[in-house]
Amino acid sequence: MGAYAESYESWKSDPEAFWMDIAGNIDWVDQPSRAFHPDKGVYGSWFADATCNTCYNAVDRHVSGGRADQAAIIYDSPITGRHRSITYRELLKDVVALAAVLQERGVAKGDRVIIYMPMVPEAAVAMLACARLGAVHSVVFGGFAAAELATRIDDCEPKCVISASCGIEPGRVIAYKPLLDEAIDISAKKPASTIILQREQQPCDLISGRDFDYAAETAKHIEAGTGVDCVEVAATDPLYILYTSGTTGQPKGVVRDNGGHMVALQWTMKSVYDVEPGEVYWAASDVGWVVGHSYIVYAPLLNGNTTILFEGKPVGTPDAGTFWRVISEHKVVTLFTAPTAFRAIKKEDPQGLLAGDYDLSHFRMLYLAGERADPDTIHWAERVLGVPVIDHWWQTESGWTIAGNPVGIEMLPVKYGSPTVAMPGYDIRIVNDEGEVLPAGELGNVVVKLPLPPGCLPSLWKAEERFKSAYLQEFPGYYQTADAGIMDEDGYLFIMARTDDIINVAGHRLSTGGMEEVIAAHPDVAECAVIGIADPLKGQLPAGFLILNKGVDRPVSDIQAEVVKLVREKIGPVAAFKIAVPVERLPKTRSGKILRSTMQKVIDGQDFKVPATIDDPAILDEIKANWEEFAG
Ligand code: COA
Ligand code: AMP
Repeated sequence: MGAYAESYESWKSDPEAFWMDIAGNIDWVDQPSRAFHPDKGVYGSWFADATCNTCYNAVDRHVSGGRADQAAIIYDSPITGRHRSITYRELLKDVVALAAVLQERGVAKGDRVIIYMPMVPEAAVAMLACARLGAVHSVVFGGFAAAELATRIDDCEPKCVISASCGIEPGRVIAYKPLLDEAIDISAKKPASTIILQREQQPCDLISGRDFDYAAETAKHIEAGTGVDCVEVAATDPLYILYTSGTTGQPKGVVRDNGGHMVALQWTMKSVYDVEPGEVYWAASDVGWVVGHSYIVYAPLLNGNTTILFEGKPVGTPDAGTFWRVISEHKVVTLFTAPTAFRAIKKEDPQGLLAGDYDLSHFRMLYLAGERADPDTIHWAERVLGVPVIDHWWQTESGWTIAGNPVGIEMLPVKYGSPTVAMPGYDIRIVNDEGEVLPAGELGNVVVKLPLPPGCLPSLWKAEERFKSAYLQEFPGYYQTADAGIMDEDGYLFIMARTDDIINVAGHRLSTGGMEEVIAAHPDVAECAVIGIADPLKGQLPAGFLILNKGVDRPVSDIQAEVVKLVREKIGPVAAFKIAVPVERLPKTRSGKILRSTMQKVIDGQDFKVPATIDDPAILDEIKANWEEFAG
């Protein structure tokens, strides 16, 4: 038996012993007496009798344990030309100071704090300061518009919002403060205060009595030497809420707890990523996404690594060699990013010549996730970098790898197009719509047998019924991933598509239902369907098909432009919504359900079966013709 099979079997035969052993890597306040408590929580609960503090494990223990002068965070910002290395000692000082500011603003254990920030180190400091106080952070990605931010404010009711005056995108500065002000204006549950990081690229006005200056307030506490102890929390207390797209415009608040999260994440640094404490690890994502939470901030810091916080793009900041410069300059051993980043680099530098300008000799491994890794991109990356490329599959809900190649345990042979095998903790099955387990090689719903392992979501924020109905109801006894896939006879998984209305654009998870809600509100739109169509760079792009109201006599091009603008204003630029195709009719079932997945296959030129329930098959040809006319 290989080391992976041994590890998987040891988990399966005695999960309690497996997780208790790993839990020994965490510094608890009160030790867990056991790992799993089947009677607590929706499907059981992890380390329910233990107490701990995540900030202590990510920062304090490294300062006292010999890593005080090691870089904890390297901030590399080609977009501003800034570099900053922050040691664990400095990180602790910054976190304590911000925790003191939050305390002064009345933030205490259990209170929520929204963090709406660009990729600056203060975003990570803010997360850790909340963790230190036992407050629950909710990071909102900077590419979301005011209305999306307001929805999250109303759902989690933060006492305070930490933000910045601006973010910087290639060629333009994004003023964050007007977005924040608008969000607070339209939200029903207004935060009592905000803490604003002024950036020199575009400072903003502060509202007296509500807005506080990040630098001035933290400086006050650093000067005064204010101490803030780590607050003891239950392992099951929430560390954060991360909103992710559901099938409607109302996002799902994925909850992460403290104890199980630490246990699982720290373990993955060696087992999944084969990284030793002290090494430099880089996840090129954004703190607004789960990859940023888990692998820019928490896992590398829990493990005593140096993490790179990169404010830039794979191309254009300044060129397609930026990733190689960062790897070379900071001696990065492992990079984790989304395939779309590599497709962007490949498009600019097809031969990968820029990699030749840098010393990448210490670089060991590239990890890809967030969307399907197409074999072309993998082969290209292998050739240019000369290292193994590891695909792995997970979700916001899981927080860490569900299926991957456990390189730190045993590197398994790569099968292109497969993120490899189930990690210990996950019992993955492929089932048909009736919930029957399918034989190897057959396509079906990918589900995970309950309980989910430590680190996975225990529930949705204040929405236990939605948690049950969205994830646990359809296949009793299993967690529904909403991905469709195949498992081969060697246990290798192949993820093929989502089974819901979620699309994946440049590694960003978006709800087509959410976009439809926005478009349908346009006064000239009678009905619409948004689908994800194939795109060679971003994987998928949202495309809207609109039926206009009868009698509309304005130029259709005006309406198309207004719809595009509306989605950008209401959801944000991250939606990347630029395709609005006028149509006469939409293909539907006889019961009136729009056949979105058939439409997608028609547009992408894939094989499809005309659904037996279709009302009028001729509409599929019409849609294809409408699309061809639009695309020219
Ligand atoms: N704040 C404000 N606007 C933002 C933003 C932010 N934090 N992030 C993105 N946007 C904007 C972009 O500027 C773009 O605006 P535009 O329509 O005016 O051009 C829009 O949102 C769409 O962004 P994106 O889909 O990311 O496209 P892009 O052309 O800017 O970049 C890639 C494409 C592939 C280079 C980029 O998506 C990328 O690096 N992705 C890989 C890494 C990653 O983030 N993965 C996510 C999870 S692992
Ligand atoms: P998110 O919650 O944003 O991380 O998105 C999770 C979804 O992205 C999954 O449910 C999949 O549909 C998709 N995804 C993530 N990683 C992979 C992968 N390695 N291969 C295929 N799809 C992936």
